[in-house]
Amino acid sequence: MKKITSALVALGLGIALSASVQATSNDEAVAERIKAVGSVCIEGDDSCGGAAAVAAPAAARTGEKVYATKCAACHATGAAGAPKFGTSEWADRGAKGIDSLLASAINGLNAMPPRGLCTDCSDDELKDAIQHMMDSAQ
Ligand code: HEC
Repeated sequence: MKKITSALVALGLGIALSASVQATSNDEAVAERIKAVGSVCIEGDDSCGGAAAVAAPAAARTGEKVYATKCAACHATGAAGAPKFGTSEWADRGAKGIDSLLASAINGLNAMPPRGLCTDCSDDELKDAIQHMMDSAQ
């Protein structure tokens, strides 16, 4: 008799348990179905990923990479009078100071096209590329 009772209790528990599991997953399913389509995240509120979503387009490329892919076309050879990589020409330009060089790179200077034709370069990427060329000066 005792065995039967505990078997019944176990059975009852089992039913109760599975019923509550069922209820939980139903609630979740309902919550999933009725959840808001979108949510608003105020810029600067990083508790909801707003800052990350707004402030991080693509990781910045290194100056070396921007130079190699964008600026080397002219600056590796000195085409059209471009100050040549790895020469004293960069020491001479460096005397102008990085801010002045960056301004010419952004706006263009004579045969140097605006942004060195790198339309998707950020100002910081341009600056790092210039620094990379200045560091090459012998
Ligand atoms: C189409 C050729 C060309 C490309 C591409 C190019 N440059 Fe130039 N760059 C020049 C020429 C030519 C000059 C020399 C301009 C002058 O002094 O008359 C120059 C000069 C410069 C100067 C010196 C500006 C100054 O004030 O003396 C900087 C800085 C510079 N380039 C940065 C860059 C960067 C950064 C890139 C790549 C993002 C780049 N350039 C790509 C042709 C180019």
